[in-house]
Amino acid sequence: MPLKALARCLAVKSRDTRDRSIEVIKRYLGTDHVFFLSSGRAALWLYLKTVSSMKPARKEVIVPAYTCPSVVSAVLKAGLTPVLCDNNVDDFGFLCEELEEKLNKKTLAVIVVHLYGMPVRLDKIQALCRGNDTWLVEDAAQSFGGSFPGNPDVKLGLAADAGFFSFGRGKPISILHGGLLTVKSRDIHGEALNLYGRVNGFSSSQSVNYCLSLGLYSLFSNPRLYWFPQLIPALNLGGTVFEPEFEITSGNSLAMSLACEMIDSIEVEKRVREDNSRWYFDNLEEFQWAGIRPAPVYPYLRYPLLFTDGGVRNRILESLVSAGTGATGSYPTPLNILPGLKEVLADEREYKNAKQISASIVTLPVHSGVTEKDRENIKRIIAQASHAN
Ligand SMILES: Cc1ncc(COP(=O)(O)O)c(C=O)c1O
Repeated sequence: MPLKALARCLAVKSRDTRDRSIEVIKRYLGTDHVFFLSSGRAALWLYLKTVSSMKPARKEVIVPAYTCPSVVSAVLKAGLTPVLCDNNVDDFGFLCEELEEKLNKKTLAVIVVHLYGMPVRLDKIQALCRGNDTWLVEDAAQSFGGSFPGNPDVKLGLAADAGFFSFGRGKPISILHGGLLTVKSRDIHGEALNLYGRVNGFSSSQSVNYCLSLGLYSLFSNPRLYWFPQLIPALNLGGTVFEPEFEITSGNSLAMSLACEMIDSIEVEKRVREDNSRWYFDNLEEFQWAGIRPAPVYPYLRYPLLFTDGGVRNRILESLVSAGTGATGSYPTPLNILPGLKEVLADEREYKNAKQISASIVTLPVHSGVTEKDRENIKRIIAQASHAN
């Protein structure tokens, strides 16, 4: 996050900024039905809580078996029951045959996740949801600014009944705080407005903490210093933990104006992400498991590389992490066997694709701090570690 943008935002007054910022965001997204909250989870909670009051008999929400555990936290916090469905390995969306089986008269909503900024094809999923009178929500937490291939006018997060975005760490706009909810229906927007009006504001002590965290984050998001926070175990960078509790507030005004400042640079950042992704596609093809073919030209948030052999993948991941390359193993297991969540979900089924993805994936950094030398280094480490015995 650029320090210049932070300094500009610190200089402005809060109430006016908030109103102005939300207008900028609405204009960018092309919709009037937008809410700013403290996180992506809080945004999802607002939607689920709203629609749940409109259809109280429907208590189930279908989520992918391989995804960020925060999605489940939001479902639980809204008083609903998460039901898992296996992913497909093409775009990490749903295995549609299984989705069809799991949809029933208790299903309130389905949450489809554009993981790593990769657009999930929605037509079949949308048709299944409509046939069951179920709302479809796009989790675009990792995809702000992305659009559907071949359809650049349709933004990820704005194609279904609702969508949400995150401005947390490692997201397209990464300011450690904030999330957006977008809602298609005017009626649901009206209901959500009532509930939003009862959500707490952001306190002054929270604002002070936020500013301090932002300062440190700006310092350490310098690629030359990125290795440092990774060495502090308490920060758990790259780790995945299930946190059932999270705050729900209407968010910090500084974060809102920062997000707006950064909207201007998103197209430039996307071009860099697209170039880096294309480089990985062209140069790491021999290592990519044949079951997945990421589109060669797309501005991923992180480039997903899947290895055929789990043992080789673990060795490569370890080498990439210890060399401070910014590569991660992403989510370590399907949600139903993730420590902490396992007991909550009590779901003994095997989700084959989710298991395969979690055991074979390495995600590579594509942001503007990645240099040609970094990419070459990543390639060299992968080649060396994949041939070592
Ligand atoms: C796919 C996905 N969904 C939801 C979330 C939740 O967003 P937040 O951390 O802003 O609550 C995240 C954040 O990491 C995410 O990656």
